[in-house]
Amino acid sequence: MKKSAIVEKIIGNLSQYSPSQNPATAYAPTNIALVKYWGKRNQELNLPVTSSLSISLADKGAETTLSISSIKQDVFILNGKLVPATSSFHRRLSLYLDLFRPNNLFLDVNIVSTVPIAAGLASSACGFAAMALALDKFFSWQLSSQQLSILARLGSGSASRSLWSGFVEWHAGVREDGMDSYAEPLHEKWPELGVGLMMVSESEKSISSREAMQLTIETSELYKSWPQKVEHDLKTLKQAIQEKNFDLLGKTAESNALAMHATMLSAWPPVSYCFPETIAAMRRVWQARADGLSVYFTQDAGPNLKLLFIDQDAIRQYFPEIEEIRPW
Ligand code: PMV
Repeated sequence: MKKSAIVEKIIGNLSQYSPSQNPATAYAPTNIALVKYWGKRNQELNLPVTSSLSISLADKGAETTLSISSIKQDVFILNGKLVPATSSFHRRLSLYLDLFRPNNLFLDVNIVSTVPIAAGLASSACGFAAMALALDKFFSWQLSSQQLSILARLGSGSASRSLWSGFVEWHAGVREDGMDSYAEPLHEKWPELGVGLMMVSESEKSISSREAMQLTIETSELYKSWPQKVEHDLKTLKQAIQEKNFDLLGKTAESNALAMHATMLSAWPPVSYCFPETIAAMRRVWQARADGLSVYFTQDAGPNLKLLFIDQDAIRQYFPEIEEIRPW
């Protein structure tokens, strides 16, 4: 099934909606998964093998403004700079807009991103979520959050979780068309919870998460146990959130991230996003814990770590270089 068929299911006939004559703006925060999405059951529709659960990063995200383009081409401005039409960024976003274009309409797209550049934070997550929200306003589709989560997923899987603040769960779903694969916010809030960005490198990824996931599914023996691991971790994480049990949350998130990276290490050819500095940073976190500090990490498809903590004074002493983010 093609992405365009899903768009038709959700929106219907695109040409019955006219674009707004005024610019339409929407904001979406980026998110970090505490129980990860790793592996697709359908690559075209970004349907995941398992559910996942994330935390949104409040003011770190993307604000996207759409207006009608005066030329026969999409124009993207990112943080004030024109994005070259030959770049993969331009191609990926234009292909996404192709799904929604009535009568050859082209768009001016102005994106202001507050995600720290090259910090290994999911810029595609907030990017596609903000785009889906802005398109909904621009064409007055008046879709539900569930429907917008599905449309954001067509851009990037993790984008399905970026429409809300706080904790968000993306349900894997079982349907072939993915109409039951969308995210929803959890009611619980946890204002004391802190996230810290621990940069070890600003290098580009050696392999995209899309490619690495597929390679893992196809070749890793360890991946066979990943769905059970996620099922268990999701249950435990929800319990930790309900009980405000920080150590249980931290342990579950760290163990889940390490298990995800273990599935990649056992793929062939093997995939590792770790640099020597990443391992050194992990050891610093483990040492801090041995010294009695409640701090844990998670890691995505890049070399940098995200720390999870409650006691910010102690964290500042141990890890003075991190950038602190308060999700609430
Ligand atoms: O949404 P994608 O295709 O960028 O994949 C995201 C994969 C991870 O960040 C590693 C895990 C996750 O759940 O966000």
